[in-house]
Amino acid sequence: MAILVAGGCGYIGSHVCKMLSKRGYDVIVADNLSHGYAENAKWGRLEQADIGDRAALDRVFAANKIDAVMHFCAYIEVGESAAEPSKYYRNNVANTLVLLDAMMNAGVDKFIFSSTAAVYGVPQRTPIEEDDPKNPINPYGRTKYMVEQILGDYGTAYGLKSIAFRYFNAAGADPDTEIGEAHIPETHLIPLVLDAALGLRDSIKIYGTDYKTPDGTCLRDYVHVNDLADAHIRGLEYLLKGGNSSCFNLGSGRGFSVREIIDTVAKVTGKPVKAEETPRRAGDPDILVAKSAKAFDVLGWKPVIGLDEIVATAWKWHKKYKKAG
Ligand SMILES: NC(=O)c1ccc[n+]([C@@H]2O[C@H](COP(=O)([O-])OP(=O)(O)OC[C@H]3O[C@@H](n4cnc5c(N)ncnc54)[C@H](O)[C@@H]3O)[C@@H](O)[C@H]2O)c1
Repeated sequence: MAILVAGGCGYIGSHVCKMLSKRGYDVIVADNLSHGYAENAKWGRLEQADIGDRAALDRVFAANKIDAVMHFCAYIEVGESAAEPSKYYRNNVANTLVLLDAMMNAGVDKFIFSSTAAVYGVPQRTPIEEDDPKNPINPYGRTKYMVEQILGDYGTAYGLKSIAFRYFNAAGADPDTEIGEAHIPETHLIPLVLDAALGLRDSIKIYGTDYKTPDGTCLRDYVHVNDLADAHIRGLEYLLKGGNSSCFNLGSGRGFSVREIIDTVAKVTGKPVKAEETPRRAGDPDILVAKSAKAFDVLGWKPVIGLDEIVATAWKWHKKYKKAG
């Protein structure tokens, strides 16, 4: 069984490729390497291609008997999406349409999409459930919600079977330290705090200490990248068995504050981390925590890796990666 992993050279996609390959799937990676690493494609054949390049995709589908597509390609920076919306709508929406049309043309009708908690915007309640209102507050979140709606329309008109996984904060790394989180540029909290622990930055900024949370800093839900990978394989197997299109939150159901993350990094690494308090950034909700009961009920998915292990795996990989390069 062959799976096309678009964006498989990036952080989450590469962990999914490794797990797919370990579970016996044949993996083909399509990535333009704009934000990924060719060496991350070691669990599959790499087709260096842009998903907006229809001719290149047609060649990939013609050369491989693909059973399903997993789609991780996107630009992912919320701030940049506000400054350069055209770049985001083109890559995250228009290029996704090219990928969808190429797969429909090739007769491939199973699709797994990386969506995000950002589709909810500022949630009205916590934890967030899938049917809660979708009011994304930035172009990044809107691109993801648009694709979710496109998937629904493609399902109705063309018979596409899809899953949209709304990840909360993906974190942690491969315990074998073969792959980990290295975004270009890096804006995610845990790798930035690890940089501070390694002495690669003087301090870590806390944006806002007056949120409606126990310690005043924002609360987020962290889920290990291998728990996400496990959800993707369960989602794939559900679609392969004839399951209906659906969307699922993927989170741990527990929120950790920015201060708790900094304290956990200091505890796990044994290194002090200096924090600098600065004013809030625009558009950060107080609390983003998932209710993932639907993923458990339908897919039997439950995250099993806790925060200490998330930080420990990230630290192990981070030290190795930063030393190497
Ligand atoms: N990291 C998170 O916490 C998080 C949270 C919610 C949702 N997501 C979503 O998960 C997906 C993967 O995120 P990630 O953290 O692994 O990001 P990433 O940047 O590490 O990976 C994205 C990959 O897609 C490739 N890519 C981008 N545009 C492409 C194009 N047009 N053609 C071919 N390849 C292209 C990049 O080169 C990169 O390898 C994204 O869609 C993101 O929006 C991530």
